[in-house]
Amino acid sequence: MDSKIAVELDDVTKWYGDILAIDHLSLEVKSGEVFGLLGPNGSGKSTTLKMILGLVKPDSGSINVFGMNVNEHPIEVKRLIGYVPESPRIYEFLTGLEFLDLTGDVYGMNPAEKERRIREYLHALELEGREGDLIGSYSEGMKQKIVIISALMHHPRLLLLDEPLSGLDPKSARIVKDLIRNLAADGVTTIMSTHVLEIAQAMCDRIAIMQNGRLLALGTMEELRREAGMPGSGLEDIFLKLTGASDIRPLIEALLK
Ligand SMILES: Nc1ncnc2c1ncn2[C@@H]1O[C@H](COP(=O)(O)OP(=O)(O)OP(=O)(O)O)[C@@H](O)[C@H]1O
Ligand SMILES: [Mg+2]
Repeated sequence: MDSKIAVELDDVTKWYGDILAIDHLSLEVKSGEVFGLLGPNGSGKSTTLKMILGLVKPDSGSINVFGMNVNEHPIEVKRLIGYVPESPRIYEFLTGLEFLDLTGDVYGMNPAEKERRIREYLHALELEGREGDLIGSYSEGMKQKIVIISALMHHPRLLLLDEPLSGLDPKSARIVKDLIRNLAADGVTTIMSTHVLEIAQAMCDRIAIMQNGRLLALGTMEELRREAGMPGSGLEDIFLKLTGASDIRPLIEALLK
């Protein structure tokens, strides 16, 4: 297997009952790449991330992470991954610090290293002073920050981030964006979903646009522009054209009647 490939999905299909969530999806994400998953609501982004982590099992096809089959090596694969779910349900009856401590222990971190990393992240994301409060008392953005810290603190080789910047204030979002880009320079691979197309355009080396569980387009910004026949365009126009939503005027007019 090519060690430059971090994640490989081969002809993956996933049904939830009679809903076809992922429809024969194949894609490769390279090591050290920041890879964006875009697509309308319900297009299969979160399902794709959950299948790579091994939380959701495909009905057919296979998924490899660093050459390991996710089905056959569930624990080894999870150990290499940091995951930010889309609506994290974290332990509301633990304090932020207790939750991070627990996470570090689950990943088998050395105690001194764990404590140092937690301190640094709490400081960088301006949570210092609130780490002893119950997570249930945090704002949404503060909960999101705790989940981001828990995903990053154990030096994962692969980050699976489902709308990671949602709810973050501009400074914190900037810190997380810069962190992800710097980690990529160190070889850490990131797959992130986002609805904020400017974020995808600014951060991602390559972007996959999904619809109905399938790939509509995949490539660098330049390749997407070429594919859409829209030289010089931004991602928003390309996205709307490819997902067939470019003419939304009649919809708006109907809503205003
Ligand atoms: N646990 C589930 N049970 C049943 N259907 C599900 C479940 N999770 C997802 N689905 C369905 O699978 C499809 C893909 O959902 P998914 O959550 O992957 O989309 P998404 O691209 O992440 O959407 P969003 O942008 O809204 O987060 C949708 O039709 C959704 O209704
Ligand atoms: Mg989702």
